[in-house]
Amino acid sequence: MSRSAHPAGPRHADVMTEGHYTAPPADLNALDPKVWARTVTRDEDGTVTVGGIEVTRLAEEFGTPAYFLDESDFRARCRAWADAFGRDADVFYAGKAFLSRAVVRWLQEEGLNLDVCSGGELTTALDAGMPAERIAFHGNNKTVAEIERAVTVGVGRIVLDSFQEIARVAHIAQRLGKRQRVQIRVTVGVEAHTHEFIATAHEDQKFGIALAGGQAAEAVRRALTLDGLELTGIHSHIGSQIFDMAGFEVSARRVVQLLAEVRDEHGVELPEIDLGGGLGIAYTSEDDPREPHEIAKALGDIVTRECEAAGLATPRISVEPGRAIVGPTAFTLYEVGTIKPLEGLRTYVSVDGGMSDNIRTALYDAEYTVALVSRTSDAEPMLVRVVGKHCESGDIVVKDAFLPSDLAPGDLIAVPATGAYCRSMASNYNHALRPPVVAVRDGGARVIVRRETEEDLLRLDVG
Ligand code: LLP
Repeated sequence: MSRSAHPAGPRHADVMTEGHYTAPPADLNALDPKVWARTVTRDEDGTVTVGGIEVTRLAEEFGTPAYFLDESDFRARCRAWADAFGRDADVFYAGKAFLSRAVVRWLQEEGLNLDVCSGGELTTALDAGMPAERIAFHGNNKTVAEIERAVTVGVGRIVLDSFQEIARVAHIAQRLGKRQRVQIRVTVGVEAHTHEFIATAHEDQKFGIALAGGQAAEAVRRALTLDGLELTGIHSHIGSQIFDMAGFEVSARRVVQLLAEVRDEHGVELPEIDLGGGLGIAYTSEDDPREPHEIAKALGDIVTRECEAAGLATPRISVEPGRAIVGPTAFTLYEVGTIKPLEGLRTYVSVDGGMSDNIRTALYDAEYTVALVSRTSDAEPMLVRVVGKHCESGDIVVKDAFLPSDLAPGDLIAVPATGAYCRSMASNYNHALRPPVVAVRDGGARVIVRRETEEDLLRLDVG
């Protein structure tokens, strides 16, 4: 379709947008390595490849919408975290970000442990051969059946989230003739600078037991008296998509203070602390995430210093990154459908997916970028909003971005940094079929989660 068929919306640097894109990027064809998976490149001739395979070929073979995951990037990030934290610490990948059997195998091969927060995630982990002792089980409302299963298979730790759960897990473990290793999740009272729905260490929310008012100390008191429990440490997770290390430092300091109080009161030095996940990634060129070695050093230093000051032996630290490992490794590939220019506003570009494969924009006002990847273009930039095909005006994938004004139906566009919390939060809204996840590596591509089919939908409908 010719450019004149799509009169572009506002195009210039003084465009007011709701997001952070006030000016188009200098080169619309450039792919910023900050936001794209490591092996994604645009060759001299304009061809975009991932893992050595052209995205146009991937679209032909696997269809759209689809998530393409750069397996070597995923593995490299696992190794970077494991190396940064070293032998004296443990890295638990947070499976909620994205979990499949292939992922569980990669984690084992790269030496990581796994955090699960439901029976379904536990099943996936065990089915793919993750040793139970390398699994941590989380959740604010684990069911009795989930706890029984976790204790029976012998998960390495259950992270206790409430007073009721302390009693419940102790009772179940005792009934099963086991002594379950547990940590207690505390809320340290830090206001993490992130979206309200993904901040978890302030006191007015559902997770954990507050340090404030001596509640966490009381939880430790109870856990230490129960035969079914072996209390090994304290856990704190302050939120998600956080860039500022200050919150983690306050959290580490308060957790160590609790360890010192426990030592003073009970004569027991708890040997572990877990500082959770939550490290931010680059969704746009303006985000500057920390590298795993910086994070490891900052956390290690603070814990060592605080422990020395309190006369405690340094406990074994663990962390639970989810997004920081899988987030940057995947992009979602869409085919452009209807293009609707709204004079004086912007151009709406509809794709063949939407809020069913990426709810983050609607839910958290998340920012993403987008690029035309099936060809290059020298056309003028046009301000676009990338929207899905769902019956909701909030069905927005990318709120404000620039694409070339010769964009046409049938073009392929890709949204980077969709590896975390996109497939794992995907839905069947409007009976959408959830897209596949295709792992790409060294010139080979294989489906690790297949596309849903209409038969899948009908199979659940038994009326
Ligand atoms: N550990 C615990 C106890 C958690 O609750 C979470 C995330 C993590 C680790 C991993 O956090 P990460 O490193 O991935 O930030 N759906 C939201 C994020 C919710 C995070 C829930 N808990 C989003 O799409 O941003």
